[in-house]
Amino acid sequence: MRKYIVYILLLINYSILLNDLSAQPIKKDYSRKVDSLLQQMTLEEKVGQMIQYSNDKLQTGPTIKNQNHVEEIKKGMVGSMFNIITVERARQYQDLAMQSRLKIPLIFGLDVVHGMRTIFPIPLGEAASFDLKMIKKTARIAASETSAYGIHWTFAPMVDIARDARWGRGMEGAGEDTWYGSQVAKARIEGFQGTDYSRQNTVLACAKHLAAYGAALAGKDYAEADISDATLHQVYLPPFHSAVKAGVATLMTGFNEINGIPATAHKYLQSELLKEKWGFKGFTVSDWGSIGEIARHGMGKDNKDATRIAVIAGCDMDMHSMSYKRNLVDLVNEGQVDVNLIDNAVRRILTLKYELGLFDDPYCYNNRYQELSDKKIINEHRKSARLMGSKSIVLLKNNQVLPIQPHISNIALIGPLNKASKDMLGNWKAVGDEKEVVTVDEGLRNAIPHAQISYIEGYDLENNELKPLPALDRFDMIIVAVGERAMESGEARSKVDINIHRNQQLLVKQLKEKSNKPVVALIMGGRPLIFSDMEPYADAILMTWWLGSEAGNSVADILTGKYNPSGKLPVTFPKQVGQCPIYYNQKRTGRPWVPNNLYVSGYCDETALPAYPFGFGLSYTQFEIDTPVLEKEKYFFNEPIKVKVKVRNNGKYKGIETVQLYLQDVVSSITRPLIELCGIRQVELAPKEEKIVEFILFTEDLSFYSHEKVFITEPGEFKLFAGNSSDNLRATSFELLETRISSNK
Ligand code: NOJ
Repeated sequence: MRKYIVYILLLINYSILLNDLSAQPIKKDYSRKVDSLLQQMTLEEKVGQMIQYSNDKLQTGPTIKNQNHVEEIKKGMVGSMFNIITVERARQYQDLAMQSRLKIPLIFGLDVVHGMRTIFPIPLGEAASFDLKMIKKTARIAASETSAYGIHWTFAPMVDIARDARWGRGMEGAGEDTWYGSQVAKARIEGFQGTDYSRQNTVLACAKHLAAYGAALAGKDYAEADISDATLHQVYLPPFHSAVKAGVATLMTGFNEINGIPATAHKYLQSELLKEKWGFKGFTVSDWGSIGEIARHGMGKDNKDATRIAVIAGCDMDMHSMSYKRNLVDLVNEGQVDVNLIDNAVRRILTLKYELGLFDDPYCYNNRYQELSDKKIINEHRKSARLMGSKSIVLLKNNQVLPIQPHISNIALIGPLNKASKDMLGNWKAVGDEKEVVTVDEGLRNAIPHAQISYIEGYDLENNELKPLPALDRFDMIIVAVGERAMESGEARSKVDINIHRNQQLLVKQLKEKSNKPVVALIMGGRPLIFSDMEPYADAILMTWWLGSEAGNSVADILTGKYNPSGKLPVTFPKQVGQCPIYYNQKRTGRPWVPNNLYVSGYCDETALPAYPFGFGLSYTQFEIDTPVLEKEKYFFNEPIKVKVKVRNNGKYKGIETVQLYLQDVVSSITRPLIELCGIRQVELAPKEEKIVEFILFTEDLSFYSHEKVFITEPGEFKLFAGNSSDNLRATSFELLETRISSNK
């Protein structure tokens, strides 16, 4: 009985911990403690705090071994370790730090990108849910599991805007839209960090990669971002600003250069904008080796020069390049680097260590490890993973074959991805175990035990060679999984060809032609993929990304209609690679594209339209969204603009719709996109039910980065569009009166 009560209390307490964390972290003032510690530190010890090494056993970048790190930690010459994934190892390392003169604890980091042990959908998949509460919740759970492993800091969220499907790292972010990316950044950070870092189930977040890493030329990873100042500020920086406003503890610089300056060497970005203008109080960390790489970019004549440039730019911690270790003490002693810069960086790092509670108890997180063997707790986490998986799936096509109806009793399940477990975990999987993954094959068998399900390989997962097919006449339905492998998207996974392999597409065609039965295609992948050849032969198409530990159950819930699809694309799916980069909020042109016209902005061998637009996603029911309604036709500056939109469910299933609100600044002093997302509302409706959703826009929401290099809002006409996809919208308009103002954005 007693055990029972304790258990219930634990669960109640636990759920309070999981939910009760929102808004900016509350901070105590540790400045006196930090200053007094700083005064006791030698220059070597100070520089040590700015050094971070990867554990040798897990390397997430080009190998640089450092045999001496154990001795260095004992001497207090290391501030942080990362890639440690066992509690024992974390304890051993912290024991070493406790042998140092000042006993400054290490801070442990890890890439917990979409889950620690319970793996959630890849971030791009989660973004497709358009469910910010759920996104926050999965980050919350990830933080809870991560901290139970004794890890204090995740290198997430990635808040890079990704407009080019060739770039492999789009999978780690929230897609192509700046407004939505900023909301997702906030949700993830609040989920990871909560309101008090010293609570035992939170971790520090790290918004990365400052900045414009996703603007890599031709989608090639690590390549230059040659973009205008306006694009940098208007498109790529707002998610970072949103992260700072949400109280993010740390930021990571990118590998790329922006308009001639490597991100890690970028003084304007790290110091002037981030720390001075935006008032960021945490610390910045380089990406893996990116300080050393400054010299390879051709800025700085050698590693020492690169070090000088990075520290002057404001890069507080060196991730695994050994540059600070090799050069920083000398640079200060030679007068090339002002010691105040070092003090400033160390002050930021120590403050966060105090805020984390590390000085009170360097091991404080380790005693929660038992929680992870508690089945009830893990099951709760997996329940969220299952729901998030279903919410992430996007229904791209449905010729009324889904959801699976009761008369379907004989199903052919084709393609090895249906049995894949490791792939379901995606590229970043922390300690996620493939043995704990529910495959699609398992999920479907559990969901419809009455049906006979026959697995057929169809093609070889390694080389895509087609395998012979049996007779298909006896089946009522064919479900085929195609796409890329999990490790085909992520860091260093840029591609010139994002078509689904031609043999896989041929297989779908053959399945339809040979059987003439309903064919359902499950598309798996970490980026927009192209599948025009097979599209006409599939009766239903679902984009299922990589859904994590509960992947199979999430897919089965969608196929059976237990969960009515509600996902929307956070990225545009092109028809051809040659259309990349393609994104919905492109600028207007003097010669807009219209079909069958020569002198228009498009291609002479393909339409300018995508295969599937941003915001698109079907449901098993049919929603109708009315024209947005405003209270007035004219508004003054600083007057809130209330927008009402009526949504109706005209179909026969209950479902969730995401009402999307887009904006157009009709005439402005610099050209603006055709439309830009400025709000989303999710609404659940029973058949025949209707509801009115409300949006409120403020003057700041109408602003843009001007010639004068500040955000301004100009008076004049604005159009507002509401709908359930960026290509299915109804419009209204209003006028903004008075003179323009500049904002502090
Ligand atoms: C390189 C990646 O760019 C970065 O996102 C990651 O956090 C580090 N490696 C550490 O693994």
